[in-house]
Amino acid sequence: MKVLVTGGLGFIGSHTVVELQNEGFDVVIVDNLSNSSEEVLKGIVAITGKLPIFEKLDLRDKKSVQDFFQKHNDVKGVIHFAASKAVGESVENPLLYYENNIAALVYILQELEKKEEANFIFSSSCTVYGQAEVMPITENAPVQTAMSPYGNTKQIGEEIITEVTRVSNINAILLRYFNPIGSHPSAEIGELPLGVPQNLVPFITQTGFGLRKELSVFGDDYPTPDGTAIRDYIHVVDLAKAHVIALQRLLNKKNVEKVETFNLGTGKGSSVLEVIKSFEKVSGKKLPYKICPRREGDITEAYANTDKANNVLGWKAKSTLDEAMASAWKWEQKIRS
Ligand code: UD1
Repeated sequence: MKVLVTGGLGFIGSHTVVELQNEGFDVVIVDNLSNSSEEVLKGIVAITGKLPIFEKLDLRDKKSVQDFFQKHNDVKGVIHFAASKAVGESVENPLLYYENNIAALVYILQELEKKEEANFIFSSSCTVYGQAEVMPITENAPVQTAMSPYGNTKQIGEEIITEVTRVSNINAILLRYFNPIGSHPSAEIGELPLGVPQNLVPFITQTGFGLRKELSVFGDDYPTPDGTAIRDYIHVVDLAKAHVIALQRLLNKKNVEKVETFNLGTGKGSSVLEVIKSFEKVSGKKLPYKICPRREGDITEAYANTDKANNVLGWKAKSTLDEAMASAWKWEQKIRS
């Protein structure tokens, strides 16, 4: 069974390729290498013993997308990761985000619409909820006005997919990720942020390694128990496994709606200080940090209600924060050695 994974050399994509291959799927990766490297293929082979097909291709080029689907007309499912994801960059360069995250999506859906049957999994984000009023966040929480072009592309992407499934043979699952962290326990693949990491965990592991002087903790005056902001950090391997289960659900026609939405989180919120403590525990290192003002656009807290993912999708995150942090640390040490 052939599956297309766009952005399959990226952070979440590469971990999903591993889980797909472990389950016996034949994977074709499409990636333009804008924020990834062909080296990742070696890590995938080291873990699974199998080299996926790789097509270097830019999904913003409509003709290339058409040619791809003509060549690989036996693709039974698409997991679409390829997208830009830096909030600040999206504010600076919105059109890059609309082209990467929306135009490419439209071109893929145009090809899938021609098929008698198509199955599509979309990388969405808990960012669609903004600052939700009720914790933990269920899938029924209202989608709020996006605070950045990046966030807007996720909302618009969800809307486009929902509308297209109504008038086509495409079935889709929208996966709203909370905060993916960590790496494969083998440390053969992991997160490779370009430049200074914007996300908390890679900044912590780089600081732990001595590449950065200290972590800036963005705000200790939030209305939370320790004053720092709370997120739901989910191990990327758990997240990757959810994609395989979601795809199987569509392939086995177990979906009850043309478009289904699932939150992917652990259900547990952790504060920035708790994440630091977890890092210190698993690494045995003291992490230098200073308290700084809040980062603009940050919310106070977000963690998932996982009932629907647990009971309907049949998936549950297994790893603890410590396990995820330990894997992130192992990866950081491996890539710097
Ligand atoms: C961010 C994006 C989100 C996106 C996700 C992708 C913003 C506002 N949100 O989520 O839209 O889907 O990444 O991975 O950029 N923190 C520090 N010091 C740091 C870095 C982060 O204290 O150097 C804090 C933040 O204030 C936040 C928490 O750590 O409370 C997590 O931050 P981060 O990893 O950037 O994730 P989000 O902001 O939740």
